[in-house]
Amino acid sequence: MIVGFIGSGNMAAAMARGWSRLEGNGTPQLLFTDSGSGRATALADEVGGGAVETNSDLVEQSDFVILATKPGVIGEIAQAVPAPKALLSLLGGTPLERVTSLFPDSPVLRLMPNLAVEVNRGVICIARPAGTDQALADDASSLLGSLGTVIELDDQLMNAATAVMGCTPAYFAEVADALIHTGIEEGLEPADSLAMVSETLAGSAELLRERTPFEIRVAVASPGGSTEAGLEALDEAGGGQAFRQAAQASLKRMREG
Ligand SMILES: NC(=O)c1ccc[n+]([C@@H]2O[C@H](COP(=O)([O-])OP(=O)(O)OC[C@H]3O[C@@H](n4cnc5c(N)ncnc54)[C@H](OP(=O)(O)O)[C@@H]3O)[C@@H](O)[C@H]2O)c1
Repeated sequence: MIVGFIGSGNMAAAMARGWSRLEGNGTPQLLFTDSGSGRATALADEVGGGAVETNSDLVEQSDFVILATKPGVIGEIAQAVPAPKALLSLLGGTPLERVTSLFPDSPVLRLMPNLAVEVNRGVICIARPAGTDQALADDASSLLGSLGTVIELDDQLMNAATAVMGCTPAYFAEVADALIHTGIEEGLEPADSLAMVSETLAGSAELLRERTPFEIRVAVASPGGSTEAGLEALDEAGGGQAFRQAAQASLKRMREG
């Protein structure tokens, strides 16, 4: 299976790194283009794929083409390339209808991955037009399933999904950064503070599969204790409300296009 990325930026790199970590079956051959920065060659060298001179060459050689540019250049790309055998668009805030109208002769799926695909622990939301060939959808699901958890959605819900899972690694990184630096300021070795916070995030994620957020909060915060003091300070500073506002701000930006 040959997967070609039009665009070799952050998300293309994350997906390519995830696939390059697989051993044996399921590892696609990877091709890349860019708009002149040299990132395609650098990424191909890093993950063991190939950089291709033009988007048209890449499309002709690929079983799946992944559109991994910023949304603004989709029109010029569509005009310049032949019809891909299958097109996966991960353009943020870009409805399926827009992509299918620009690529009328290709089967199109819309994806929303998050950065954790790089370590094969991502979430990849997929929307497909009515009438999509089932074999193609199955092939795409199994290809993407090696990068994390695949969730099928209606296209209208992709912006909501993006606000909840696409942007979120950056929010968790912000929380982690604040806690790691507090540990360092209080005398922890940076590596220890990082290990404590990252493993606590990973463990809390596992716990969330078993218990509700409310149950976890109650089980950690005994009345009058240090966690309760921390939660009160968090609430005063905006707490959960701040994250709801962050998700709403992302949605507003996506709706503005
Ligand atoms: N980053 C995330 O976490 C994330 C999550 C979900 C979805 N997305 C979506 O993924 C898409 C890419 O985001 P990103 O963060 O990876 O962006 P990025 O780092 O800016 O990368 C964009 C890439 O597109 C290339 N490009 C631009 N015009 C091109 C053209 N005509 N032909 C070939 N390549 C071209 C750029 O080339 P140069 O290298 O030459 O500049 C660059 O390699 C966006 O639509 C975004 O909404 C991103």
